[in-house]
Amino acid sequence: MGWFSRFINSSIGKKFFMGLTGVLLMLFLIMHLIGNLTLFIGEKAFTNYAGTLETLRPIVRVIEVILASIFIIHIYSGIRLWWENKKANPKQYAVNAKSKESSIFSRTTVFTGSIVFIFLVVHLQTFWYPNNFEETGKSLYQIVTGSFANPVYSLFYVLAMILLGFHLNHGFQSAFQTFGWNHKKYFPFIQKVGTIYAILMAAGFASLPIYFLISRGGM
Ligand code: HEM
Repeated sequence: MGWFSRFINSSIGKKFFMGLTGVLLMLFLIMHLIGNLTLFIGEKAFTNYAGTLETLRPIVRVIEVILASIFIIHIYSGIRLWWENKKANPKQYAVNAKSKESSIFSRTTVFTGSIVFIFLVVHLQTFWYPNNFEETGKSLYQIVTGSFANPVYSLFYVLAMILLGFHLNHGFQSAFQTFGWNHKKYFPFIQKVGTIYAILMAAGFASLPIYFLISRGGM
C-alpha cells in the first residue's frame, strides 16, 4: 500500500482525487436538479418523488454516506493543494494569479468553493435534517416552498448558485485537464461544454427559489 499512500499524498494524486470526486459531484448535481424540478410540476409530483426516495431509504442512506465521503475528499484535497501551492511559491503564486493563463474562475475557486460549502451546511440544516430527524408536522414540499417564500433565504440561494456556477465552470475543465484530455484541438470544446453545464446547473437551481419567492412570497 506504500505506492497508494505516496500517490494520494503527491500533488498529482491530490489533483486526481479532486477531479474524480468533482466529476462524481457533478453527476449528483444533475440527478438532484432533475428531482428538484418536480417542484415546478406541483406538490403531488414532488411528494411522489420524495416518497420514492423514502421507500428506498436504506439505499439512500448508503448513497448519502458515499456522497459525504466524496465531499470530504474533494474539500480536503482542494484545501491541501491550495495551501501547498501558496506555501511553495508565495510570490510566484501572486504573479501567476494575475497572468493571462489563469481566469477569474480559477483564481476564485477556493473562495467560490468555500461559499458553496457554507451554502451546503445551511441547505442540509433547513431541508435534509428536519425531513429526516425532526417532527415538523410539515411535508418536505411545505418545508421547501415555505423557506423560499423568505426573501433573505431565497436571495442567499440565488447568490450561492451564481458562485456554484463559477466553481463548476472552472472545475469541469480542470478535471478534464487533470485526466489528460487537454488536446489543443478538443479543449476549447470541453471548455464550452463546461460553461454550458455550469450555466444550466446555476440557472436550474436558482430558478426554484426565484419562482417560489415570486409565487408565494408575495413579490
Ligand atoms: C434550489 C436548489 C435546491 C433544492 C430545492 C434542493 C432540495 C433538497 C431537498 C428537498 C433535500 C432533502 C432530501 C431528503 O431529505 O430526502 C436536499 C438534500 C441535499 N441537497 Fe439539495 N437542493 C438544492 C440545491 C442543492 C445544491 C446546489 C447542492 C450541492 C451543492 C445540494 C446538495 C444536497 C445534498 C448533498 C443533500 C443530501 C443528500 C440527499 O438527501 O440527497 N442541493 N436538497
